[in-house]
Amino acid sequence: MKIAVFASGSGSNFQSILEAVESELVDASVELLVCDKPGALVEKRAEKAGVSLYSFSPKTFASKAAFEQEILAELQAKGVELIVLAGYMRLIGPTLLEAYGGRIVNIHPSLLPSFPGLDAIGQAFDAGVKVSGVTIHLVDEGMDTGPIIAQEAVKINETDTKEVLQGKIQKVEHELYPKTLQHVISQLQRSVK
Ligand code: GRF
Repeated sequence: MKIAVFASGSGSNFQSILEAVESELVDASVELLVCDKPGALVEKRAEKAGVSLYSFSPKTFASKAAFEQEILAELQAKGVELIVLAGYMRLIGPTLLEAYGGRIVNIHPSLLPSFPGLDAIGQAFDAGVKVSGVTIHLVDEGMDTGPIIAQEAVKINETDTKEVLQGKIQKVEHELYPKTLQHVISQLQRSVK
């Protein structure tokens, strides 16, 4: 299945997806990286792996609809069938939601519906919860609100710092996202047959 990854940051999840595709754990080809932060580390990862990049600055467009139209044209030109958000720090608007309804997935570093939005790891740490985790869900118009596909809990120990918690969460993300993507892809493949 042809997929596009959207990311704005360091791209460690992007990297884990590339590696899972490479080792055939995920039956997909990564056709495109979409990045809204020109210069982000994730772009270097795409370049190194030979993945096409669509990099843009939202502020140079008149509206979200305007830049999503351009993204959509790129996705369609590459025949992308599934959008994978991996640290894309922006809400998806109606242009992409209408074109890719039910075919956009996101990963969030908490057990949703707890701690949606920015700095979920910091929110959980500051709240003093003893368990947080990772959620993978379908994307709708809300912030981290779509139907949940997979979750995994991460225990927070008394002595854990925020950095330790972050490391534990990332480790889970890098295994859970590829595994869940393969599940989503095989379901989509069955539904088109
Ligand atoms: C991850 O924690 C993901 O859950 C969140 O953004 C972060 C991206 O990290 N949505 P990275 O760029 O993949 O390292």
